[in-house]
Amino acid sequence: METILVTGGAGFIGNCFCKLLLKERPEWKVVNVDSLTYAANPNTIKEELNNPNYKFYKTDIRDREAIYKIFEEEKPNIVVNFAAESHVDRSILDPESFLTTNIIGTEVLMDACRKYGIERYHQVSTDEVYGDLPLDRPDLFFHEDTPLHTSSPYSTSKASADLLVLAYFRTYGLPVTISRCSNNYGPYQFPEKLIPLMIYKANHDQKLPVYGEGINIRDWLYVEDHCRGILAVLEKGRVGEVYNLGGHNERNNLYIVKRILSELNKPESLIEHVADRHGHDQRYAIDPAKANKELGWDPITTFEVGIKKTIEWYLSDKGSAWLDECMKQNQEWLVKNYKNRK
Ligand code: NAD
Ligand code: TYD
Repeated sequence: METILVTGGAGFIGNCFCKLLLKERPEWKVVNVDSLTYAANPNTIKEELNNPNYKFYKTDIRDREAIYKIFEEEKPNIVVNFAAESHVDRSILDPESFLTTNIIGTEVLMDACRKYGIERYHQVSTDEVYGDLPLDRPDLFFHEDTPLHTSSPYSTSKASADLLVLAYFRTYGLPVTISRCSNNYGPYQFPEKLIPLMIYKANHDQKLPVYGEGINIRDWLYVEDHCRGILAVLEKGRVGEVYNLGGHNERNNLYIVKRILSELNKPESLIEHVADRHGHDQRYAIDPAKANKELGWDPITTFEVGIKKTIEWYLSDKGSAWLDECMKQNQEWLVKNYKNRK
């Protein structure tokens, strides 16, 4: 029986990963370590808490003593680190927690792995570590050996963590893997990110704030496909390797926002162009050929299906109650981030 310690399992992607494991690897024990920051709504993990194969610790990954205790108690043989400060705009206004959680937190977890011994440490990373690609070069993609060249404090903290993970492989022989994924969308994403925020606003006939011209491109991947990719890396990936995960699903922000408005039968006059993000990355585009060839991984949810499923969930009784709670939790941030953009 595997015991897998998942950090950040009350967040958007970490929770989806725990759900996937409980369903598809029912013989595994899943231990979720999450400090429940503003980005975690406790209702996200309500169902999992009833599962006998699931255990939850409300713990900060920077708390070395507490993390070591959990390792002593649970003896995980696999660790997957999702826990992070994850929002670029917040990192621009207040970088410090990004550096401590995303870098020091990673160090603490890997030190625990060295001390207690594990079979695999997996770092969940992002395509943002590669910086951005120009809009007029659609022929260019991020490959695993594309140089790290970051723009925001968020992406810099993630790239720093990636380098630290590779250093622990080379220096201490820690059995690590890294996956770098493009933008995710799906249920339970905190409404500070583009898609859930725009669904909420469109549904409430509020203005939809598009940064700059809205021509920046992201490569969108349905969250479950990302989680299947991570599982494939754990089971088939080679130690010491990086795997890019993405679905060749490039769309610009205006396309996404217009698509949400049209699905909700709302007018495009709700779109409001606001001041751009500082250092705004232009285009992200992943080449997932290595994951495809070595792991047999391919996304299975098309954008057409995924966006409909996502909107349906946020409009459902369960999804809209969850979204309302998060929006209440997020008011202070919305004022802080958007007040000077008009
Ligand atoms: P999220 O913000 O929704 O969730 C992060 C979770 O980590 C939250 O539950 C939070 O409580 C927890 N957390 C934060 N600081 C912590 C700490 N110090 N100790 C313990 N728990 C802590 O983020 P997400 O979108 O689910 O992203 C998960 C991971 O995937 C991150 O590492 C992120 O960099 C990476 N990633 C995200 C995307 C995306 O599109 N969202 C794309 C690629 C990679
Ligand atoms: P976001 O969801 O924050 O993800 P990331 O910055 O990690 O890619 O943003 C996605 C894109 O949407 C990005 O180009 C910024 C843009 N955006 C807006 O135009 N308006 C908004 O209110 C938000 C949150 C994002």
